[in-house]
Amino acid sequence: MAQITGKAFDTKIFSRVMVYAKPYMGVLYQALLLTVFLAVLGVLRPYLIGKAVDEYVVAGDSQGLLTLTLIIVGVLFLEAFMQFYQTYYSNWLGQSVTIDIRSQIFSHITSFKLKYFDKTAIGTLVTRCISDIETIAQIFSQGLLSIMGELLKLTAVIIFMFWVSWKLTLYSLAPIPFLIIAMIVFKNAIKKAFQEVRTQVSKLNAFVQEHITGMSIVQIFNREGREKAKFIAINDEHKKAHIKSVWAYSIFFPVVEILSAISLAFLVWWGIGGVLKNEVTQGDLVMFILLIYMLFRPIRQLADRFNVLQMGMVGSERVFKVLDTQEQIQDGGTLESGIKGNIKFENVWFAYNEEEWVLKDVSFEAKEGETIAFVGATGAGKSSIVNLVNRFYEFQKGEIRIDQTPIRDYRLDYLRKEIAVVLQDVFLFSASISENITLQNSRISQEEIALAAKAVGADKFIEKLPGGYDYDVKERGGMLSVGQRQLISFIRAYVYNPKVLILDEATSSVDTESEQLIQGAIETLTENRTSIIIAHRLSTIQKADKIIVIEKGGIVEQGNHQELLAKNGHYKRLFDLQFKESELS
Ligand SMILES: Nc1ncnc2c1ncn2[C@@H]1O[C@H](COP(=O)(O)OP(=O)(O)OP(=O)(O)O)[C@@H](O)[C@H]1O
Ligand SMILES: [Mg+2]
Repeated sequence: MAQITGKAFDTKIFSRVMVYAKPYMGVLYQALLLTVFLAVLGVLRPYLIGKAVDEYVVAGDSQGLLTLTLIIVGVLFLEAFMQFYQTYYSNWLGQSVTIDIRSQIFSHITSFKLKYFDKTAIGTLVTRCISDIETIAQIFSQGLLSIMGELLKLTAVIIFMFWVSWKLTLYSLAPIPFLIIAMIVFKNAIKKAFQEVRTQVSKLNAFVQEHITGMSIVQIFNREGREKAKFIAINDEHKKAHIKSVWAYSIFFPVVEILSAISLAFLVWWGIGGVLKNEVTQGDLVMFILLIYMLFRPIRQLADRFNVLQMGMVGSERVFKVLDTQEQIQDGGTLESGIKGNIKFENVWFAYNEEEWVLKDVSFEAKEGETIAFVGATGAGKSSIVNLVNRFYEFQKGEIRIDQTPIRDYRLDYLRKEIAVVLQDVFLFSASISENITLQNSRISQEEIALAAKAVGADKFIEKLPGGYDYDVKERGGMLSVGQRQLISFIRAYVYNPKVLILDEATSSVDTESEQLIQGAIETLTENRTSIIIAHRLSTIQKADKIIVIEKGGIVEQGNHQELLAKNGHYKRLFDLQFKESELS
């Protein structure tokens, strides 16, 4: 978590935030105008009340008093009305800006290379998209306009007070220096406390997120008790941090209260004398008492508002940092047709991290319509090879061509449209089965989905689910088995009808019935299209046109099943190993 180093007001960040308010300038101006009106109206009421005392109460003119009272009530209603609109507009503005920034940051994040996500915590990005942006909304709803409003009110009150009686004003303002000192102390204390609270909140978030995701491990190893103890410890820190901020508030507010009482005491003490000496009127005195309240309330609020503004600045800074990150995949290609399905790797070298070669000098060719299979030990580099074909990651040396053209010359969206990838661990969104198959592509009809399901042999199990194709698979497809999820991803690939299919078989074993289903589905899917299959069960690939054995990032053997068995090398060894395993079971 980044430290809060921000100033309460950073012009560079602020002007960048204001760019987002541009489309809503009309509303911003209205809110500003209302703020100004409210400041002026605020002073009007005490003035009228003072007048009422002087001209009607003292004179005993009840008719006049009634009229003025009605006017005062009217002003009160007008104030309430304006207050409503001001609150509404400023919050509306905040939320509108939030939507815009949020959509921008979301689409920005989705354009990043996978490499970026390898090194960035999910929790951090979630925080940027949700709570950090929330603090930007508060700049508008509670920070900026409120601060302006309170400052305007303060200025109006003070000018008005001097205008009525400078002597009374000076008396009643005597405790102000102490107030300013109290404000500064409070502001610093609360800033530190908030910082601490935010750090603790993010720790809590991370802990809960990690433990719910890894719940099965917690339970398998009977860690509930110990994890709970850890959780309580973090909670305790969180509580302490919170209490610190409560302390600051619970001291500051009474201090302001006392200072305003002292102010009032000065005022009354000198004021009564002044009235007796006919230097001020009774009405002025009443007016001042009301004004004193109006003076102290904004001051109390201001200290708080500055914190909101500062939090907003910090939030903005973090959000802008993500927006300024340039980790996009270079999409410089222009070709958007012509892929038939010939894939050729020419001396490809690849590393996830500088110079730690995961693939070393890999060359092979998959001709149009062929099925190529990769086998090898875990960590050998099989998934890494297929990660390069649709440009999930960028290789460093050599060339990958599809139909003789380097893959970087194709437009990225076209390339990915023609290459369907079924990943090793299938990810499903919490939505219906149909939505998980079409992925919001409205051009795919229900009939097509049903036909595809039938083709890959998944129709029976889907129809048995409550609601069939409308069945909600819940978060990450947690309601389905591994084999079922794999079948759904097959339908996904089938309906998109790509020229190239890449299939990274799930390592987890599935039951015999699912295995047969999956086997059949793979045969259907690979028909008439170039297919690259990474198989963990060698039974899956015996019919492949070519089997390539990968070891430590390099190709050690290739040929078809019979040829490789005859070679009596790496493949034969793997085959014997699995054969023995299945005999044993
Ligand atoms: N995102 C990544 N960042 C850094 N290194 C990675 C990343 N993914 C994989 N690796 C490393 O690259 C090497 C090859 O991994 P790869 O996933 O290609 O193996 P695999 O052959 O698919 O294994 P498995 O059969 O277990 O799926 C491994 O040493 C692994 O640690
Ligand atoms: Mg793999």
